[in-house]
This record gives sequence, C-alpha cells and structure tokens, in this order.
Amino acid sequence: MQIQDLETPVAVVDLDRLQANIRRLQTYLDLHGLANRPHIKTHKIPEIAHMQLEAGATGITCQKLGEAEIMVAAGIREIFLPYNLLGPAKLERLMHLTRRARIRVTADAETVVQGYAEAARAEGTVLPVLVEFDTGTGRCGVQSPQEAADLAQTIAGHRSLHFAGLMTYPFNDQTGEFVAATRRLLEAQGLPLETVSIGGTPAMWQAHTVSGATEHRAGTYVYGDRNTVLAGAMTLEACAFHIRTTVVSRPTPERAILDAGSKVLSSDPARGGSGYGQLLEYPDAVLYNLSEEHGWVDVSRCDPRPQIGEVVTVLPNHVCVVTNLLNQVVGHRRGEVEVVWPVLARGMVQ
Ligand SMILES: Cc1ncc(COP(=O)(O)O)c(C=O)c1O
Repeated sequence: MQIQDLETPVAVVDLDRLQANIRRLQTYLDLHGLANRPHIKTHKIPEIAHMQLEAGATGITCQKLGEAEIMVAAGIREIFLPYNLLGPAKLERLMHLTRRARIRVTADAETVVQGYAEAARAEGTVLPVLVEFDTGTGRCGVQSPQEAADLAQTIAGHRSLHFAGLMTYPFNDQTGEFVAATRRLLEAQGLPLETVSIGGTPAMWQAHTVSGATEHRAGTYVYGDRNTVLAGAMTLEACAFHIRTTVVSRPTPERAILDAGSKVLSSDPARGGSGYGQLLEYPDAVLYNLSEEHGWVDVSRCDPRPQIGEVVTVLPNHVCVVTNLLNQVVGHRRGEVEVVWPVLARGMVQ
C-alpha cells in the first residue's frame, strides 16, 4: 500500500529519515562523550523508544508517570522522570515502577524530596534524585547554585535517597557557569556531582559547549517540525513526520480548506513564522487559521493553486502536541507503507 491510498487526515512518518535523525544525534553525542537519554514525549511510541536504545541511548526520558508506565510495560528498564512528583497516588505509582525498572527522578523543592524519601523508605529502596535548576527560562528549578547545593544536601541526608546530580531544561549560556558554581559548593560539602543532564532540540548541536554536562535529552529531534527548522537545528528534508490532508473546499479563489484543523495540527504557533504549519507542495500558501476540523489556507500567492480533492502535506509547527492528538502514525519508506504504530502513550498526562 502507498501513503497516497490512506484516508486523510493521516500522520505519516518517513522511516529512513526517522532512523537518520536517531543516528545523527547519537553520533554527535557519542563524539562528545555525552550520554543520550531521548525524551519520548515527542513520539510516545515504544517501538521508536526501542530504536533509540538500540542506536545507543543509555535510557529514555518520560515527562509523566503514565508515559513511563507504558514504556516499562513495553520492556524499557531505564527511565528518567524530569518532573516533580507530588501526592500519595503518584508516589505509589512511582514506587511500583521502581520494582520493574531503574527510575531516576527530579526535585526542585524540599516538599518534593520529603515525599520521595518517605515513599522510598516505605518501599525499602534507594531512589536517585536530580536537582532541577533554572538558568533563566523561568519554568521550574531552583534559582541559585546555593539553593541547588542546599537541596542536594537535603537529598543526601535521606538514607532512602541518592543525590544523583543536576538537571535543567533548556540549557543556555549560563548553564555551564551555574553547574561550576554548584560543583564548588557540593565539593565543599563532600558531595560528588555524578550527572548533569541538559536537554532540548533547538540547541542540540551546542550541547558539547556546556561545560560539565554529562547527558542530553532531546525529544523533537526524532521527527523534526517547523519550529525546529525555523530554529536552524534541522533541515526541511530531515523532517520525518507530516500530516497528509485533503483540500475539502475551495470556497473562493483565494481560500482552500483542509480536512485537518486544530484537532490534528494543534494550535501551537510558529516561533518566528506565521501560520499553523507549512504546506510542502505550496510554499507560498499560508495556513492562517484553524477551526476544530478545518484548516484555512490563503492560496492567493500560489501559482498554481491547489484544487479541491487534492491531498497536500503539512509540516506541523510543533510535532509533540500533534502526536498526542492522534491514535496512530503510519511508517513508510519512499511512500510504501511499512508499519502502523499505535501512539500508545498519547493522552498519558497524569
Ligand atoms: C524536561 C525536558 N527535557 C527535554 C525536553 C526535550 O525538548 P525538545 O523536544 O526540544 O528536544 C523537554 C521538552 O519539553 C523537557 O521539558
């Protein structure tokens, strides 16, 4: 079967490009002695996680426990959760996971550490915990090297926990300095700094410039998307994931309507570009609006213009949110369908 024969809208993954993307980043990280711990929130598919591990990744990263549960059920045994986990229900699920896989977790506050310590003590296990730090992004993370060192000391003070290092997302010019300053404080406290985990796709080719980093977590790199291309981290030709969508209406000479709306493409904006995705066959078209099941395209600058019934290929702005909307993706090589993967961890937000 060819991808042309598939009903639309449909997510298609070019398997040659997918494998090349996995290989390219692994080769780069190997060259620079950085461990690769890809973030599976982009694809949410165990088969792709296994491909990443077979290519040389030391483990995977999952944002949510629900994703980790899917990956453990699929046989993956090395998982990092870079997310504060709070409350008895989540801690119970976490402990359940530790019986079946090596799990590392994250904390940026004493309350979180306390919860981990009590759960691990009751379980009779030792849980590795990394301290999350913020070097200016303004999301989670302790705000200063002193806070990082203090929290590390708190972790090390619990017999049921192991201080396993530092993590941040994304990294920037200040990251190396923050790590160095924290390392000095930790040394004074007699605490070794094992792991420094950084992450992100837009800056992935600069990971080697972050002094002290030992590990990198990239998610989007596996597929690529319009924002990754706009950031200059990947070429259009390397992007592996697309939505094939039909022009279902041409109500005016200037407007084409697609059968993919916000329920397929998501409403995530383009960083530094306009519209909700890029039409590969019509580079001058602008996907300027979305309703739930319709994509609104300005084709006034296209010559020729797409016809009703025509199938076009859209590169989404942000692929991670798109995959979370879809039950399955179709893998193909040069248009020949090879595999249909259920997106098993989609919707696993708890
Ligand atoms: C904690 C963490 N690590 C790694 C990543 C991977 O980022 P990217 O998809 O840009 O590679 C993310 C993305 O949201 C993240 O939140």
